Amino acid sequence: MRIATAVLVTALTVTAARAEQASDRYAPEAGSVTGIVAPQQATARRHMVVAAHPLAARAGLEVLDAGGSAVDALVATQMVLGLVEPQSSGLGGGGFLLHYAAANGGVTSLDGRETAPAAATPDMFLGTDGQPLPFFTAVVGGRSVGTPATLRLMVEAHRRFGRLAFTDLLKPAIRLAENGFPVSPRLADLIAAEGERLKHDPVTAAYFFDAAGAPLRAGATLRNPAYADTLRRISDGGEDVFYRGEIAADIVAKVMADPVNPGRLSASDLENYTVIEREPVCNTVFAVEVCGMGLPSSGGIATLQILGLVEPWGIEHMSPQAPETWRLIGDASRLAFADRERWLADPAFVRAPVAGLLATGYLSLRAKLLDGPNAMPEVTPGQPAFDDGALWPMPPAGVTPELPSTTQVVIRDDAGDMLSYTGTIENGFGSRLMVRGFLLNNELTDFSFAPTGKDGAPVANRVEGGKRPRSSMAPTLVLRDGVPVLAIGSPGGSRIIGFVAQALIAHLAWKKPVAEIVAMPHLLNRFGPFEVEAGTAATALVPGLQALGYRVEVQELNSGLAAIAVTPAGLEGAADPRREGAVLGR
Ligand code: GLY
Repeated sequence: MRIATAVLVTALTVTAARAEQASDRYAPEAGSVTGIVAPQQATARRHMVVAAHPLAARAGLEVLDAGGSAVDALVATQMVLGLVEPQSSGLGGGGFLLHYAAANGGVTSLDGRETAPAAATPDMFLGTDGQPLPFFTAVVGGRSVGTPATLRLMVEAHRRFGRLAFTDLLKPAIRLAENGFPVSPRLADLIAAEGERLKHDPVTAAYFFDAAGAPLRAGATLRNPAYADTLRRISDGGEDVFYRGEIAADIVAKVMADPVNPGRLSASDLENYTVIEREPVCNTVFAVEVCGMGLPSSGGIATLQILGLVEPWGIEHMSPQAPETWRLIGDASRLAFADRERWLADPAFVRAPVAGLLATGYLSLRAKLLDGPNAMPEVTPGQPAFDDGALWPMPPAGVTPELPSTTQVVIRDDAGDMLSYTGTIENGFGSRLMVRGFLLNNELTDFSFAPTGKDGAPVANRVEGGKRPRSSMAPTLVLRDGVPVLAIGSPGGSRIIGFVAQALIAHLAWKKPVAEIVAMPHLLNRFGPFEVEAGTAATALVPGLQALGYRVEVQELNSGLAAIAVTPAGLEGAADPRREGAVLGR
């Protein structure tokens, strides 16, 4: 499956460097961490793609250069990401797409979320003692696998917004899977850090470890003929070969026959999977319209709440260097997370007061709670209005670990179509099960492990058959006068909300360019300690935050922000310097 050599690194370095010369206003620096030189900041006039790996961005750029649409480029980019960044997203996972169509000015959001098998039950993440399972006991194996959704999402997005033949969009990934690609330093580090968990499935182990059982090193050439074969079958037979044929059978067999942790997936779960068009959630803040993904993602709603809570306090006049500024953002985030935990889950199963949570009157009331010099001593969920006018009881808080994961792509094409896509297989390497060259997700652990609160009342985000687990993914488009001026998003589990909200505040209120907003140090509050990014200037704020009454934890905060701004001078793109992403454009 692989040959250890670093020769390809040099070849790709040269090719990628040539491919992006036209776009590089800034110095091409940080992309070189992959061994493949590609800029993490660039400008362009016509089109641009930002993705988590230079080879994926290059596949997207080639499609845009060939006259493809933003969605065409996304399909090619996602198929390559599933190969070169297999720990984050792929055919075995799902995602959310927020898309602006220049032809009619419409913003569409598509929900390609993995779904609980029909046989899933609320108690499936409880142990024999009735307590929530330890996270990795639940994750590793078949139990955590939801119905894969990525391919259906790509096909549906392409049906609506594609220009080139779908089969052509698979070719870059097929080529790379057959010829091989260099294992990136990040992938190598993550394989080594995973260790034994990646050996749960012998197929996964054989792919990520050498014959002596050592983890693949950075620079080793990795081939994936099984993935190439899967893509060729899809190319020849369409999505049905994945959702009905032999591939579906193999997915189901892998999940159900897991010797340690079998799951609940059936052939009919795959056959019946559908992508759902959702109403995007949009609010006007800082004189622009910010649109995000609605439920089952909490990402858009929570992000909009944070923005709506800090705006009345004049955050644009406050300094990013002052603890008081972060008190405001941190407590706004605590308020948003309090609401999120109680109210938000798959709307097909739970009454969720989405409009109420984003209503001006509700946000004004909640914003008043931010008055005062110190950290709020106690933060509780609010009582937003429901569409039917009734006061429905508040569900109890659940138990949802939500560790960091996921990938982010933003694209703008020649016609002005623009998209933000967040894709995932949930935790790094998902369920650790591999089928036909791709990893299966562990998305079901985005449900609450505990189905009920202490009083026995059901948690909104409990597991139920056919339900979509609550997400934090926050693909975002910002529009001025109905036209997009920014596409942004990030991986990071439930930290996504803070990463995206902070970047939006920095761009919209503090007028910082995208290159700065993806790189600035993070300070997050998810209804717990104030998390401050280690090794950054933000640590200077720790004593000030402690004096305001916060418990502070200094730690790595590994966002993977990707952003494209449309400015009067053209397109400005930026990839998070904490990861290996790249910006390519013309
Ligand atoms: N699994 C990451 C998310 O959906 O937020």
